[in-house]
Amino acid sequence: MTNTHLVGLQWGDEGKGKDVDILSEKHEVIVRYQGGGNAGHTVVIDGKVYKLHLVPSGILRDGKINIIGDNVVWRPQAFLEEVAALEELGIHIEPGKNLIISDGSHLTLPYQQALDAVEGGKVGTTGRGIGQTYEDSRGRTGIRAFELFDPSNLEAMIKQNTDYYNHKLRWHGPDVEQLSHNQVFDDLSKIREQLIPFIRPDTREILLKYDGSVLFEGAQGTLLDIDLGTWPFVTSSNPTKGGVYTGTGVSLELQRVIGILKAYQTRVGNGPFATEQENDTGERLRERGKEFGTTTGRPRRCGWLDLFAGKYACEVNGVTEISLTKLDVLDDEGTIRFGVGYELDGKQVDYFPRFQMGKCEPIYDEMLGWKVDTTKARKPSDLPKNARRYIERIETYLDTPVKRVGVGKGRDQTIEFD
Ligand code: GDP
Ligand code: IMO
Ligand code: MG
Repeated sequence: MTNTHLVGLQWGDEGKGKDVDILSEKHEVIVRYQGGGNAGHTVVIDGKVYKLHLVPSGILRDGKINIIGDNVVWRPQAFLEEVAALEELGIHIEPGKNLIISDGSHLTLPYQQALDAVEGGKVGTTGRGIGQTYEDSRGRTGIRAFELFDPSNLEAMIKQNTDYYNHKLRWHGPDVEQLSHNQVFDDLSKIREQLIPFIRPDTREILLKYDGSVLFEGAQGTLLDIDLGTWPFVTSSNPTKGGVYTGTGVSLELQRVIGILKAYQTRVGNGPFATEQENDTGERLRERGKEFGTTTGRPRRCGWLDLFAGKYACEVNGVTEISLTKLDVLDDEGTIRFGVGYELDGKQVDYFPRFQMGKCEPIYDEMLGWKVDTTKARKPSDLPKNARRYIERIETYLDTPVKRVGVGKGRDQTIEFD
């Protein structure tokens, strides 16, 4: 009987989707508790590629209940398109049965996305209206999924919000296009009946019923957390442990908190990145790791593993075990470096300086690489000695056991550790 929280320990794209897919076998319910279509989780099963944004990765297994929780924000049209694309790939979806949306989740409508398009450049957002939808939630003017059941109220809310957003858009200049509330409402009305069967008021009760078999699927990562990340270069939700509770309304005991840690570091969008390698090393990691965004296609910035930030992320989430992903991407490296601290103004810091990371110099440790193909390794003893040493260094620094290591995209390219 295990409830599991799976959380990214970096700036997202750690390989969470693959691990959710693996772990969903042993859980009955998989729930997304935050974020929205900004997430991009690529899962490869028997060579078939599935790209998930909003739908929990548990959908890829038959017989599982997948929930989009209260603190998730979603674009109605994009949701239906994602469902259609999954069905096209042979995934069976039964609205309200194996795929459920909480009536407390928040709708992102075209006006929020339009404002993100003009405001999101500084942070380098995914342009999905995420921050604007969370602002409206906190400002108590947003539209939650339950409003879809009352079209006349929905129309009034959409009119008010579109008018307000048109003011904000106008502030950005006369060339910024204005939106028509009639158009927004009509477009939503056309798909309202398709959406309604997915929406349920009792997601909390479902989670309580399945206590002991719930997998909480985090999107993004700890360093992108609105409160605990490298603010303001963050997303607008809480991928970290607290988000599990506010995003679902249940306080189930989490027996396992699995921190997903990529064997090197990446970031999409702007903001500080202490161990970034804007050189041949970064280029090699990007090419070998195919580090291009699932959602926006942007090249990801790449660098060495930042264990100092990783330690902070483990503490924030109470991580009980690490899943180390994409170890194979380091197969060709002669020397492997990893960040073990920061210096600020020439002095080593003894706290995680999340607002000053841009002014910090990383302190590195290094070791010889292994220069062996690991993609066919299936058990710990198949790994070369130096790869096992790298894993041990990570465990020791984070004071947390590494329980799974990824050596390729495929479900089978996974090594379980005792
Ligand atoms: P997520 O957002 O955390 O789910 O991660 P993404 O799906 O955005 O990015 C991870 C990418 O790496 C995906 O394309 C995965 O198929 C791929 N991947 C996951 N694990 C491994 C691994 O162990 N090795 C390699 N080479 N690729 C992996
Ligand atoms: P997954 O779940 C990587 C980043 C964006 C930007 C910042 C804010 O695939 O790990 P937003 O659109 O959320 O307002 O953008 O957050 N970002 C991600 N980076 N992986 C993600 O999700 C991300 N979701 C958002 O690039 O820097
Ligand atoms: Mg991703």
